[in-house]
Amino acid sequence: MTISMARNDNKDEILRLRLRMTAFLLSHCTLIMHILIYQFQFGGDMCGIIGFIKENCLLDVYKGLELLEYRGYDSVGIAFNYCNQTKIIKQKGRVKDIKPKLNGYTSDIAIGHTRWATHGKPTEKNAHPHKCRYFTIVHNGIIENADSLKEGLIKKGYKFLSETDSEVIAVLLQDCFTPDNILLGIQTALSKLVGSYAVAILSEYTPKTIYLAKKDNPLIIGKGKDFYCFASDSPAIVGYTQNLYRMKDNEIALLSNDTIELFDNNLKKKKTVFHKTYLTVDNINKGSYPTYMLKEIFEIPRAVKSTINYLKKLRDIQNTCNFKDYNSIIFLGCGTAYHAGLFAKSLLDGVAYIHTQCITSDEFLYSSINLNKKTLIIAISQSGETADTIGAIKKAKKSDAKVIAITNVPYSTITEFSDYCLLTLAGVEIAVGATKSYATQLIVLKYLCGKICGSNKLINELLPQEIQQVLTFNRYIKDFVYKNDFENLFFIGKGVDYQTALEGALKVKEISYVYSDASPAGEIKHGPLAMVGAKTLVVCIITKEIYLKGCLNAVNEVKSRGASVLVISPFEKISANQITIPKSLENDRSVLSVIPLQLLSYYLSIKKGLDPDKPRNLAKSVTVG
Ligand code: AGP
Ligand code: GLU
Repeated sequence: MTISMARNDNKDEILRLRLRMTAFLLSHCTLIMHILIYQFQFGGDMCGIIGFIKENCLLDVYKGLELLEYRGYDSVGIAFNYCNQTKIIKQKGRVKDIKPKLNGYTSDIAIGHTRWATHGKPTEKNAHPHKCRYFTIVHNGIIENADSLKEGLIKKGYKFLSETDSEVIAVLLQDCFTPDNILLGIQTALSKLVGSYAVAILSEYTPKTIYLAKKDNPLIIGKGKDFYCFASDSPAIVGYTQNLYRMKDNEIALLSNDTIELFDNNLKKKKTVFHKTYLTVDNINKGSYPTYMLKEIFEIPRAVKSTINYLKKLRDIQNTCNFKDYNSIIFLGCGTAYHAGLFAKSLLDGVAYIHTQCITSDEFLYSSINLNKKTLIIAISQSGETADTIGAIKKAKKSDAKVIAITNVPYSTITEFSDYCLLTLAGVEIAVGATKSYATQLIVLKYLCGKICGSNKLINELLPQEIQQVLTFNRYIKDFVYKNDFENLFFIGKGVDYQTALEGALKVKEISYVYSDASPAGEIKHGPLAMVGAKTLVVCIITKEIYLKGCLNAVNEVKSRGASVLVISPFEKISANQITIPKSLENDRSVLSVIPLQLLSYYLSIKKGLDPDKPRNLAKSVTVG
């Protein structure tokens, strides 16, 4: 093993790790995190901002907004330099609605916004960008003192066109403008703001520059071959560049075509050090697949392979985090990530010297669990931006507990607040339902738990091939769904398979809106059986021989009530409807057995004519608490 997870100690540590990283490998860089000790406003604000300084970049901004849409989408807008003036196109509605309006325009400098209103209704007038004379802004966040600032500015003769808190930033910028030192004007304006912001500014005084600043909301800068870009999160820009810089609070950055200048709070120039991110994106399009979700399920073998390769190159984790220092481990996460935590907890259940718990991030926030220096928190989050998990990490950090983050997005907010980080290398995941990221979370957690309890069987090189075998059941699952009509589904299993059952039930709910639930196989007779009838499908997962007898009892019980049964198991001929997965290593069977459940939920959704990529009422990452 060569590279370890990185520790977020201090700048010297970062430098040291970076040097080591360069020496070790070019392609697989150690993840280096920055400790940012600032007050993060819990319950970050939704919405996404993005921009490019790049030849003919209007479509790039548009595509980036599509990728940021998960952060909110009640209105959308783009501002760009056109004939030496800032042109704004904005409207209420989804990102796709703005595309036709961009026809006929070209620009080499543009900023965009997808809004989730906090102040003022979702209307065209309130949509960003907002402009005041020569200054135009897009803003993610909440300006808490907007009303009092507005009052003062109105007295000075300024007029406000929207009901947003954000517009005050544009007006303040204009008000603080000093012709001989534009940067000073920007700094003065920003210093008057109370609240949170990630803001991008265009000025007609300097039409070839984008100004960026942030406080308590994320902002990532990307450096391309001959361009710069920025976004609220890295998945929106990694299709263009993997060289990223995560801005720190109170910094101001100036982007122009071929340079970046970075300033601190006192306008002292700083060096910008770009890091190469692990996050990859094969194609920000569906390729030959009808949906992102199906594409991402079929990407699982590659995602698992990349994650395995990454783990093989890790230096011994014990060098940075000595597990012997802890007697209590708490796994945290939400939704699918929580289920990954349950899987990990089950792997450590037999380890006598460590007390393990797995709890959803939000419940953790309200719990009175004792945290001390012997507590290790393992926080799991695909996006790295989930507010509940960020809040839970912050709570843990107030004690002496240490935090390991497991995330698919390096340089995300969660990595900032954690002491150590391990990555899943699933690549960008666009569909709302987590699929490939979950598979890779299980791989990383199995590895980590193996390290904790001193196991040797940490990596199974054959797993990607075994997953390919499972994917050959795609057609079978599709036919099964199309031939039958189910009103409700129950997922059952014992031990670790119950965790897989929970994930299957969640996936069906979120993607297909069909009622589904999970139950430990032995529990079905204690209540859920009342819901079982001729239109019920019971999916039974059996990955260990010791579970066979108990599961078969449950299967017979539901069959006698007229339910259909689908079995997922490496043991053959258990049921007429069966997906026989490869035997694999016992702990890897959870990865193999969840894939048919993902496909099942997918086809239930498609059969109903739904869009599995964007299920109703759900966002890819929930950045509000
Ligand atoms: C998964 O399919 C869901 N979209 C959801 O449960 C998700 O896993 C949860 O919101 C946590 O997200 P995170 O992993 O990005 O923190
Ligand atoms: N507060 C701003 C508004 O309501 C920005 C909201 C956001 O970050 O989504 O327009």
